[in-house]
Amino acid sequence: MRITFCCTHTKAAPWLEILRAALPGAVIEDWVSGAPVADYAVVWSPPQQFVDEQTAAPGHSLKAMFNTGAGVDALLQLRIPSNVKLVRLNDAGMSVQMAEYVCHAVIRHFREFDGYQADVAQGKWSYRKPRGRADFPVGVMGLGVLGSRVARALTHFDFPVLGWSRTPRQIDGVKTFSGAAQWDDFLVASKVLVCLLPLTPDTRNILNFANLAKLKEDGYVINVARGGHLVDDDLIALVNNGHLAGATLDVFRTEPLPGDHPFWRHPKITVTPHTSARTLRDETLAQIVGKIQALERGEAIEGVVDHARGY
Ligand code: NAP
Ligand code: GLV
Repeated sequence: MRITFCCTHTKAAPWLEILRAALPGAVIEDWVSGAPVADYAVVWSPPQQFVDEQTAAPGHSLKAMFNTGAGVDALLQLRIPSNVKLVRLNDAGMSVQMAEYVCHAVIRHFREFDGYQADVAQGKWSYRKPRGRADFPVGVMGLGVLGSRVARALTHFDFPVLGWSRTPRQIDGVKTFSGAAQWDDFLVASKVLVCLLPLTPDTRNILNFANLAKLKEDGYVINVARGGHLVDDDLIALVNNGHLAGATLDVFRTEPLPGDHPFWRHPKITVTPHTSARTLRDETLAQIVGKIQALERGEAIEGVVDHARGY
């Protein structure tokens, strides 16, 4: 068996070492142009040339490309033959990180910790009126691997939690909505909106003026999915006109976020550098190795991307 590795923005050596230890009989190499065609590929943002070379021969052997992230929006921009499975990461240590990040952002906003920090910096011992938790319904867009974990985690802090997905889902303690028919009902009932959707033609620009204006007064936006979900100027307009209290953003249309982008300096917008749920090397490779072994035994695996759905 031959495995090729083509992940931009990461050093190949430690990944190859782990793969070689887990699959001792396999030939495992960092991809270079002209390399032999492999059976499996481990990828992040590979160039089109990689796909073209690996799939050029009519009877090519490439069976699956394993994405080292959960989101496959960038991969689906490439031309990939339909006989090559695209496999996304299923959790692999990301859902607990995402739950931490989102709960932290919700609680930091709800408890006004930024305000306390500013007061303390000026030596001020101040109290703020406690806010009513029942007035803080948190709506989670996307109830997949990450969204469902986040929604469940939020219920532990007794916030009213709502969730929206493409098809109906049930989660204990979460009021769920689905599809276009229930989209407005979900939005108007939410004060904090958390985006954990995949970026697809249906979800691009979904965080726009018309939709965000439907959130309850003093709404708050947390985008941890993809920058392409959010219309930046619409968010800024709604924060500046007072309908929204602010936002926490981890993902951006251009990453790194350009130095002159107004998000950097907006007092009500918190920015983090696409770090809410990092790919963890050991967990990721354990999952990929397990899936390669399952495919070799002819078994079905989780996380195979449906090209038509876009996720
Ligand atoms: P997932 O398991 O595939 O879940 C996707 C969820 O979105 C599902 O509930 C799905 O509905 C719902 N959905 C998809 N299209 C929809 C539509 N048009 N309308 C309503 N709901 C829709 O994905 P995941 O593993 O939770 O990851 C979600 C996204 O998080 C990834 O695609 C990635 O972009 C992002 N992410 C970000 C980071 C970061 O560090 N910031 C890290 C990892 C992932 P159904 O349940 O009906 O299928
Ligand atoms: C990170 O953004 C991922 O998609 O895993």
